[in-house]
Amino acid sequence: MSSIAFTNIATLVTNDVSSGDGVLGILREATLVIEDGLIASITQGKPSGVDSVIDCAGKTLLPGFVDSHSHLIFAGDRAEEFSARSRGQKYTAGGIASTVDATREASDSVLAHNAQRLLNEALASGTTTIEIKSGYGLTAADESRSIEIAKSFTDETTLLAAHVIPQEFKAEPYAYVDLIINSIIPQSSAKWIDVFCDQGAFTPEQTEAILRAGIAHGMLPRIHANQLSAGKGVEIAVALGAASADHLSKSTTADIELLASSETVATLLPGAEFSTHLESNLGRKFLDAGATVAIASDCNPGSSYTTSMPFCIAAAVSLLGFTVEEAVRAATFGGAKALLREDIGTLSVGKTADLVLLNAPSYIHLAYRPGVNLVHSTYKSGRAVTTWQK
Ligand code: NIG
Ligand code: FE
Repeated sequence: MSSIAFTNIATLVTNDVSSGDGVLGILREATLVIEDGLIASITQGKPSGVDSVIDCAGKTLLPGFVDSHSHLIFAGDRAEEFSARSRGQKYTAGGIASTVDATREASDSVLAHNAQRLLNEALASGTTTIEIKSGYGLTAADESRSIEIAKSFTDETTLLAAHVIPQEFKAEPYAYVDLIINSIIPQSSAKWIDVFCDQGAFTPEQTEAILRAGIAHGMLPRIHANQLSAGKGVEIAVALGAASADHLSKSTTADIELLASSETVATLLPGAEFSTHLESNLGRKFLDAGATVAIASDCNPGSSYTTSMPFCIAAAVSLLGFTVEEAVRAATFGGAKALLREDIGTLSVGKTADLVLLNAPSYIHLAYRPGVNLVHSTYKSGRAVTTWQK
């Protein structure tokens, strides 16, 4: 049995509203003890009989960030497309095709190295759980190897074969939907099934058929909805009991109310809003309606090429109308909800000791000091996985 005590924690974010102050369950000058990867106690006192002590004077300890939406299995980048947007070009689903070409051409080891590089960035910025989607292969073999590579990094893998209709099926899109339903899904061992239900991607009918096929195969549903245009994605997600509906930029008032009255989490993607088409009041609309909100990186080479959850927190506050507290909660507790995970996202006795120690006296600095990596160290199941700054 190994135990570690974090003592003199200037600010401890627990997300446990029954034990601390405000929506973040804040405790001051607390001590948190972990034993064998789990949280054993949270007190105001001095620890005794522990194997090691970490003095957190002047620092903030919070749950590791839960990034519930990323697309890390790809090759190449689309810097020129980003640059064109800075000259007024609009983001469309069409750019995905160029990443599909690069991904199909890449070897397994190139794809795995690229994902590892991005995961290293994510860990160094405090992400302790990440969901990873396929979606740049779009053949049975390329989707399957994308999921196998993703599985070597995380348990939260998502089949997104329904990302766009690949070039070779443009003339007969239903044949690709059939391929997904009859071949790609049955061969897939992903945990989650996702569909990009939007203009230039999949229709509501196709979306529902694909999600139902995934569910019949034992997968759990989630969705990309209302990113580029309002559609029926939210209705389908709620009707099928999806854990989360993501993007939501063009949602109608009816969609927002439907999500707020459902168990489906509204996942907003500040990096995508930042990099494509800013929907400035997006966060407030969902928060004021009472929806459970998550924020995630959406890391991908087209619409949001960031792995940094602190950046997403800062963008949610400055651009989407979140309070700092709402943004920090959405990046931790919200992300855990969006992945149906009860063991993470909250710091209380018995939960997994996935933690981020910040070189700052308060969580507010996550938004107040944008672009600065304040992460001192990241712990996964009580083990230090990265120590960035002393
Ligand atoms: O979530 N919206 C669909 N998929 C990605 C973008 C993919 C791309 O542009 O390569 C997203 O934003
Ligand atoms: Fe996405």
